[in-house]
Amino acid sequence: MKDYFGYKGKTAVVTGASSGMGRAAAEMLVDLGAKVYALDWNECTVEGIVKFVKVNLGEKESIDACFAQLPEHINSFFGIAGVSGIKTDFNTTVTIDLLANTYITEEYLTKRMTKGDAIAFITSTGGFNWDREGNKIFYLPLIEAEGWDAKKAALEAMNLNRLPGTLGYMFAKSAMNYYVAYQQNRIVEQGVRLNALLPGSTDTGMKSEFSMAAGGDEKLLQSAGHAHRLAEPSEMGEPVVFLNSDMARFISGELLVVDFGAVIEEQAQLKPETLMTMEQILEMVKARAAAAQQ
Ligand SMILES: NC(=O)c1ccc[n+]([C@@H]2O[C@H](COP(=O)([O-])OP(=O)(O)OC[C@H]3O[C@@H](n4cnc5c(N)ncnc54)[C@H](O)[C@@H]3O)[C@@H](O)[C@H]2O)c1
Repeated sequence: MKDYFGYKGKTAVVTGASSGMGRAAAEMLVDLGAKVYALDWNECTVEGIVKFVKVNLGEKESIDACFAQLPEHINSFFGIAGVSGIKTDFNTTVTIDLLANTYITEEYLTKRMTKGDAIAFITSTGGFNWDREGNKIFYLPLIEAEGWDAKKAALEAMNLNRLPGTLGYMFAKSAMNYYVAYQQNRIVEQGVRLNALLPGSTDTGMKSEFSMAAGGDEKLLQSAGHAHRLAEPSEMGEPVVFLNSDMARFISGELLVVDFGAVIEEQAQLKPETLMTMEQILEMVKARAAAAQQ
């Protein structure tokens, strides 16, 4: 049979490969004949990978040490690792979910990828209103900053670390969705494609944290809409593997929403909107603080 995916013998790097969607993607890539490099801060037990590299994506030194152990040519990069913000503060959440991905792309992938190679991130439907001006004004300075130190300085200058990590998650995912357009605009001339997959609620290592943030399992299930269940990790792993495959060779700059139709109904105003802009959230936080002082 023809190798439609085209992964045979190709070098694929997967972050977050130890659990959930990243693990599902890594397993499928091994099956499809790719040489898989698994990156995570927890041990990866996926059978058949070429190498596991332990990395903390929240630290530049750790990322640099990790890429020193990776091949000089990377065909396929999957930026899947992330934190929910329940256990991490705002700035740490943004550093892992946004800064690491932009730093890796700009510092390493632009230099180690050539025509026909591809990048796919897993972001979130939680960052779906990324294109609203009320969000852009916050994340643009951080995206436009060049180099790790400048990006970190832009993040510190926003002075948002007093906000919960879960808002950092929303901020980071909105910014990552914008980044798909921003960075593909630069890298596509190199012949490298760049896309993202936006999952709805999925039953992974993060489920209990998202359940806590949503106010319980029942509320979390409501966000799954017509699916009436959470997605399985492979239901995200498989489409993200598709995005970097030869079958998607004319797809770039795409935000692929994989949520069984939940978000498009909000967008079409067929059901009430739940997503707010950062500006609206900050107003709400200020109003609550003022009310608490009275
Ligand atoms: N589960 C959901 O409902 C859902 C919904 C939308 C988006 N997402 C996104 O999907 C992606 C995959 O998450 P998942 O749901 O499979 O969760 P998961 O917790 O099962 O997997 C996340 C992986 O990232 C790794 N990781 C986290 N921080 C790291 C760091 N600093 N350095 C190295 N590795 C780190 C973890 O060890 C873990 O293996 C994340 O970016 C997440 O934000 C998840």
